[in-house]
Amino acid sequence: MDNIAGPPVEGDNFFGRETELARFLDTLQQHDILLLGPRRIGKTSFGRALMKNAAAQGWQVVEVNVASCDSEAGFVSKLAKAFEDAATSRPRQFLDQTRKALSKLLQRIEGIEAAVPGVAKASVRIGAGKAEDWTATASALLQLMAAQQQRWLLYVDELPIFLYTLINNDPQQGVARVRRFLDWFRNDVRALAACAQMRWLISGSVGLDTLVQRHGMADTINTLKLERLEPFSEAVAVDMLQALAGHYAITLDAATARALVSAVQWPQPYYLQRVFNTLRRLLSERGLPPAELIEAAVDALLQPGEDNDFHHWEQRLHQQLDTTDTELALALLGAAAQTAAGARAETTLLPLLQTRLPELSNDAARHKFITLRDILLRDAYWYADESSGTRRYRFCLEPLRRWWLRRNSL
Ligand SMILES: Nc1ncnc2c1ncn2[C@@H]1O[C@H](COP(=O)(O)OP(=O)(O)OP(=O)(O)O)[C@@H](O)[C@H]1O
Ligand SMILES: [Mg+2]
Repeated sequence: MDNIAGPPVEGDNFFGRETELARFLDTLQQHDILLLGPRRIGKTSFGRALMKNAAAQGWQVVEVNVASCDSEAGFVSKLAKAFEDAATSRPRQFLDQTRKALSKLLQRIEGIEAAVPGVAKASVRIGAGKAEDWTATASALLQLMAAQQQRWLLYVDELPIFLYTLINNDPQQGVARVRRFLDWFRNDVRALAACAQMRWLISGSVGLDTLVQRHGMADTINTLKLERLEPFSEAVAVDMLQALAGHYAITLDAATARALVSAVQWPQPYYLQRVFNTLRRLLSERGLPPAELIEAAVDALLQPGEDNDFHHWEQRLHQQLDTTDTELALALLGAAAQTAAGARAETTLLPLLQTRLPELSNDAARHKFITLRDILLRDAYWYADESSGTRRYRFCLEPLRRWWLRRNSL
């Protein structure tokens, strides 16, 4: 197993998650899945592993990453392109038919620059301003796909980024367009009898749930089964570290591996890979036993230049929340970061919020705290630790807490 910390991992480099793979595959028999989570927790790697398992069971699978799409038409042509790619392994005649049908479809989208190879760049306008055009075309595309193969798994990665782009680029109509998109997805797609066996796995790292709640359209995603990727158990984390160590001929006993896991505290594989990576470097530089280098390995991740991943956690708040809420969330996290044990709501967090928003009544302040607290719980910034007898909000990822503290100190 190679020590890869960054791009999606596949094959032998994809460790564990067997139970989740089986569970997701089972869920897909009946439901579509929405897989949300912070950056780098392995969504894409997992989505691809799931596609591989589904393909082995006879599903036809396609993956589209819609992070760069800036219109509904762009979304449809991405999907069409993925469909065409999936068809290239089929007989020539089938492929030609598919391309012909796709070419017609794409020309129906107003002003679209056809993105399918072999199709002339087309910019065909049909009746200016027909807002529904793209939904009809998108539905027709799905029907075309369903006609070729019954069981499809469509993996759409980074959908929330696309929807945030629609909102940010179009202050007037953006929210309505997102609602239309999600309504199409929930109602129109479901109404297509031909697509009854089509399943969707949607994933993303910016909160789609926050977006729909903020704009009062939570109903649009309530047919998706919401899933998250939990951190590894200590045992699986230790196994992974030892598999990595074995590959690099490093002796890492179980006690040292456990110490590394506890330094990370929230053993998502990415952070284990990162710390292991630094540990490898320090081992060759300093020649000390691994157990004596864990602290330094974690410390190295917090330094400017190495800490890009931690910045994402901060940026994500700015992306999802308005300015006031972002500042409040930052202040709450700043307070919780002071000690590894976290902070109490009654004595620290709530009073902090009331100082910042003196105009709020007690009830309103409490309500505000609960809303923000739940977002921070859901997005795995912190968790409610009851182990001391009183509830404390504590950072999940200990290196993130230390980074937060370092960054906010002079
Ligand atoms: N099952 C796994 N086994 C080993 N390493 C993993 C696994 N899943 C994730 N990783 C680690 O996490 C890194 C990021 O994985 P991936 O790109 O799949 O995450 P992501 O959630 O899609 O990230 P992003 O939000 O940035 O798109 C990998 O480079 C690898 O270090
Ligand atoms: Mg990804």
